[in-house]
Amino acid sequence: MTLQWHHGNRDKIHRFIVFWVVVAATLLIFLRGSEIAIADEAPNLALFGPPLPENFYPQQQPADPELVDLGRSLYFEKRLSKNQDISCNSCHQLDHYGVDNQPFSPGHKGQLGGRNSPSVYNAAAHVAQFWDGRAADVEAQAKGPILNPVEMAMPSEAQVLKVLNSMPEYVEAFATAFPKDKQSVTYDHLGQAIGAFERGLVTPAPFDRYFAGDQTALNAKQKRGLTLFVDAGCAQCHNGTYFGGNTYQKAGRVNPWPNQEDQGRYKVTGDEYDRMLFKVPSLRNVAKTGPYFHDGSVKSLKAAVVQMANTQLGKDLSNSEAGDIVAFLESLTGEPPTDYIQPPVLPVSTESTPAADPT
Ligand code: HEC
Ligand code: HEC
Repeated sequence: MTLQWHHGNRDKIHRFIVFWVVVAATLLIFLRGSEIAIADEAPNLALFGPPLPENFYPQQQPADPELVDLGRSLYFEKRLSKNQDISCNSCHQLDHYGVDNQPFSPGHKGQLGGRNSPSVYNAAAHVAQFWDGRAADVEAQAKGPILNPVEMAMPSEAQVLKVLNSMPEYVEAFATAFPKDKQSVTYDHLGQAIGAFERGLVTPAPFDRYFAGDQTALNAKQKRGLTLFVDAGCAQCHNGTYFGGNTYQKAGRVNPWPNQEDQGRYKVTGDEYDRMLFKVPSLRNVAKTGPYFHDGSVKSLKAAVVQMANTQLGKDLSNSEAGDIVAFLESLTGEPPTDYIQPPVLPVSTESTPAADPT
């Protein structure tokens, strides 16, 4: 009896709580909805924060300059490729916004990979590396291309270390950069050094001045484009400091993606949910990094914007709307750090340095 009474009371309390939770949730959804509606008039810049950092080192503590210098040398080092004709900079040209502007980049013997080269600028800040996020960070990523048969095509880590060990200047540079380690010339350290260099590849843009409060940093057309970018729904995926780089989303969320050959993240996880999911690319410097999309299939930025509106949002943009969004995206073109990216003088080869292998 007591128990029953107790139960009945509990049920009442339960229903009472459920009722008010539903009311509160409805209110919250309603309020959030009207917040977005207000944002339609003056775009909510908080969508694109926090402000761009000066570098991508943990806690923004610049890495040891000697480590960065070593990383820079390795970034430009063609002797890390089988035929000694390709470096990271061949496909990710630092004086071309970190890309080569080809649909697919030629690697060893001119072979083409199946994906468009993304920019290395600001990449260190992404949630993960590659179109499908299969490398956790720039340090891990850097160890891939050197051994990739269609990129730099080195046969083994051992061969890479043999090349580095053949040049006393590299041996010394590794020893200086990794003073605590007995074995300083290692493949992991190579990845760490290149990654450390990449963590300094930041491109502050006019948009960042606008974000900081300078109303003159964007012109009227660009401001219209920004409003449209938010209103149309682009910022559902292209948000945060990098206008992307932070989530995986389906290419073809509303209307099917034209090219289904590459299933994106599905290949990495084998999970049905991940079919056609790609890392949302950052839109920083996008006006300079065409051709567009993982398959490099679209040449002009305007055409890419129109395709996005259609496939991702089911919307048809007018020519002038697309033009305004493109103008806005141009405000994301930043300034590469000119001194930081100067190609260094590389160590000289010795008699024991392996010869180029064109096979
Ligand atoms: C032959 C051309 C080529 C070379 C050489 C090359 N890359 Fe790449 N890089 C690519 C391509 C293509 C992708 C995208 C591949 C994918 O997503 O599957 C990529 C992806 C990346 C990414 C991921 C960026 C992002 O937004 O996800 C980084 C970082 C990167 N490369 C750095 C390097 C470094 C460092 C080197 C030298 C050790 C290098 N690359 C050498 C073509 C190249
Ligand atoms: C549902 C998420 C989503 C929405 C909404 C979205 N995008 Fe994208 N965007 C992506 C993904 C994912 C890619 C990569 C597609 C691919 O290459 O497979 C991409 C790629 C792009 C690219 C090419 C970038 C490059 O480096 O190749 C541009 C430009 C772009 N989007 C602009 C926009 C604009 C403008 C809008 C609004 C009209 C928009 N996007 C809406 C997810 C989205």
